[in-house]
Amino acid sequence: MEGRLDIDRRTGIVTGAGTGIGRALAVELGRREGDLLLVGRRIEPLEETADLVRSAGGRAEVLAADLTDAGAIDRVADAARARGPVDLLVNNAGNVRAGRLEDLPEQDVLAMIALNLTAPILLSRALLPSLKESAAERGSVLLAISSGIALTGLPFYTVYAATKAGIAHFGEALRREVHGTGVHVATAFPGATDTDMMTSSTAGEDLGFGRRPVPDVVTEILAGLSAGEHEINTAAATRRRMQDLNKTDPLAVDALLAPRLESFEAAVRTHRSI
Ligand SMILES: NC(=O)c1ccc[n+]([C@@H]2O[C@H](COP(=O)([O-])OP(=O)(O)OC[C@H]3O[C@@H](n4cnc5c(N)ncnc54)[C@H](OP(=O)(O)O)[C@@H]3O)[C@@H](O)[C@H]2O)c1
Repeated sequence: MEGRLDIDRRTGIVTGAGTGIGRALAVELGRREGDLLLVGRRIEPLEETADLVRSAGGRAEVLAADLTDAGAIDRVADAARARGPVDLLVNNAGNVRAGRLEDLPEQDVLAMIALNLTAPILLSRALLPSLKESAAERGSVLLAISSGIALTGLPFYTVYAATKAGIAHFGEALRREVHGTGVHVATAFPGATDTDMMTSSTAGEDLGFGRRPVPDVVTEILAGLSAGEHEINTAAATRRRMQDLNKTDPLAVDALLAPRLESFEAAVRTHRSI
């Protein structure tokens, strides 16, 4: 924990900004007079977010890009730098495919790794020199949206869990690497949140997937960031208890989940946002 971090008037990128957590983060950063490059594959939702950012008092430009395409990272980084000094990068875009490991199509496995892990690592790598350059006065912000699943690996989410734990550990290592540069590396760990990503899952409160509203989650992420936190956990209370138990007695979590494996698998078998 450090001192407070000023998140007003930030200039930079929000990926996956057309919907869900990314859109709400963009609008809230806009309310704080942010100047944002909004990135995602579909232009229409990005334009809608841009309008919301402008109505909230910020500035916004959109860039349609599939972050897993060859050359996309450089294109996005170049576009951000062309707008002026960059002191914000929010790596939010993500996808999910649940299911028994041996049933997951290879294409979906690779798509999760490409978007949730490779893309944010490469975009951070591309923009780190700019973030360092802009950090002199009040620091720069590099925020990744991981997941509570990074803290408690859940069955039928093996690959998603690997990507989210990977990006969280990337953040921890990078935070230590950039110590003293003024780049604030933070990772958010949302629990189940009511977004498009979750519409194909039928797992509910009974299975620990009670969904929190997006505004509550985003308010907590930005409050944590402003407070200077590096790890921001927005999990619901029941999931938080499981995360605590996972640290002290991981096999007790196995035992807790075992009797519900079948119903859990049935509820998440169709969960896919790729
Ligand atoms: N909802 C939850 O319960 C939950 C919990 C923990 C963590 N998270 C994480 O929160 C982040 C945001 O997810 P969300 O819940 O807000 O879901 P969402 O509404 O599905 O947002 C994902 C965003 O990523 C963009 N995207 C997808 N594939 C892309 C690609 N190849 N290139 C560029 N952009 C791409 C999507 O826009 P396009 O389709 O237009 O590209 C979309 O706007 C993700 O990293 C997710 O893993 C969500």
